[in-house]
Amino acid sequence: MRLLFLGPPGSGKGTQCQLLSNELKIRHLSSGDLLRASVAQGTAAGLEAKTYMDKGLLVPDPVLIAMFKDNLSQENCHNGYILDGFPRNLSQAKSFDDMLSNLHQFLDCVINLEIDSEPLTLRITGRRVCANKNCLKVYHTKFNPPQVENVCDDCKCELIIRSDDKEDLVKVRLATYFEQTQPLIEYYQLKKILVNIDASQSSQNVFNSILTTLKELTKTH
Ligand code: AP5
Repeated sequence: MRLLFLGPPGSGKGTQCQLLSNELKIRHLSSGDLLRASVAQGTAAGLEAKTYMDKGLLVPDPVLIAMFKDNLSQENCHNGYILDGFPRNLSQAKSFDDMLSNLHQFLDCVINLEIDSEPLTLRITGRRVCANKNCLKVYHTKFNPPQVENVCDDCKCELIIRSDDKEDLVKVRLATYFEQTQPLIEYYQLKKILVNIDASQSSQNVFNSILTTLKELTKTH
């Protein structure tokens, strides 16, 4: 199965994609995680990306397009994948269409996490992420706390705060989303593969709604 998640920052894309990747045993490809790994490695592309990420702006398209071309052709994507954060504007979406057609693939479903802006700041500023690059599990100090403060339940590594999770940056990231990413909702609606999910519910209820949607989808395919 090939899935794509859309939704504003803090809507729960990473959380739901991690749950779904474990459930469906398919790869979760997060553009943000891939970019943060390049930043941590100190590659030229990573250092360039950081200057945009620290301002809440989109990293230039060629960086993302090269990154996803490379990842999607890898063997561990052959049985499906879940995309989180790419494509993020119309130009990336058109490049992604080309990638799909070159690989003779199609997207099964685009899941759009719908939520008002109001709760997003609280979700983002309370986020904690496992520092282990092979884990990256997402927590929240209030809504999904770890069993031991600042320690990952799964791998026992330290939890950290993302450098772009600052209140003043959330406004910029949201404005970037509304201007550049939101038009993708109509783009995929026109392709008749978009499903809206109410992301204001608890994480578990959002996950259950997604699973129900995907079960219906496999019945009709
Ligand atoms: P990226 O890492 O993709 O960040 P984002 O899209 O801003 O999304 P977030 O990771 O903030 O939120 P999320 O929806 O994944 O929420 P999460 O599940 O963590 O991108 C970062 C930057 O990289 C961008 O700003 C840009 O610079 C660059 N970039 C990335 N992709 C790019 C691209 N394609 N092109 C150009 N540049 C790109 O949840 C948030 C918190 O809420 C967590 O603490 C979680 O525990 C909690 N939570 C989740 N669900 C619920 C719930 N239902 N109820 C209560 N709390 C919840």
